[in-house]
Amino acid sequence: MDLEFWQRKWRDGQIGFHMAEKHPFLLKYWGQLGLDGRGRVFVPMCGKSNDMVWLRSQGHELLGVELSAVAIESFCELVEGKFVSDQVGVLNRHTGNGYVLLVGDYFALDRNLLGAVAAVYDRGSLVALPPKTRKDYVALQRELLSSGAQILLIAFEYDQSEMAGPPFSIDAYEVNELYADWCEVELLESSEAVSALPKEDLDAIECCYRLKVL
Ligand SMILES: C[S@@+](CC[C@H](N)C(=O)[O-])C[C@H]1O[C@@H](n2cnc3c(N)ncnc32)[C@H](O)[C@@H]1O
Repeated sequence: MDLEFWQRKWRDGQIGFHMAEKHPFLLKYWGQLGLDGRGRVFVPMCGKSNDMVWLRSQGHELLGVELSAVAIESFCELVEGKFVSDQVGVLNRHTGNGYVLLVGDYFALDRNLLGAVAAVYDRGSLVALPPKTRKDYVALQRELLSSGAQILLIAFEYDQSEMAGPPFSIDAYEVNELYADWCEVELLESSEAVSALPKEDLDAIECCYRLKVL
């Protein structure tokens, strides 16, 4: 999955992954993180997710990173407030209304850019990546996050031979392989998938994990 794959999806408006509604797992489980709207939430590969608007409404500051300028421009229009733009290294930054939105490659992030993060909201990010990139994605998150930070992770499980992905199937075994040596891992729910998938009749479940950095 090269970066041009995602740029093209946004240019062509092929964004079936984008949800008009807030994700039910976010609404149901965010409270269990016990943050009471405090602290900065990092949303990797954020698209123009409406979930960021809900997290902001809870009181959190939001930091999103997204490859596509089309997605971020569209999100800024939705928020309607004023954003100030500047360039930080290879990333284009839009700041305003409690959001910092970085346009560019997730892998260009470092601790200075990210600042202190209370929690990560990962819906559609890990599952967007093929296996090798997933390991690099998690390794960078491990570098970026401090002990005590939490991650709400949403993943799909389905028979990978039925569909090529993205989104990819990531089962509990793999989640543990990726995270268990640096996070507490708790499966909160697995139930029939609510997110739209490219193959309509796919038998898929959607899982929600709470991870806490050790
Ligand atoms: C499946 S979508 C999910 C978007 C969003 N999280 C949501 O829930 O709607 C995956 C997103 O990751 C973005 N993306 C893929 N690779 C990326 C990278 N290396 N850096 C930043 N964003 C990336 C894509 O442009 C796309 O918007």
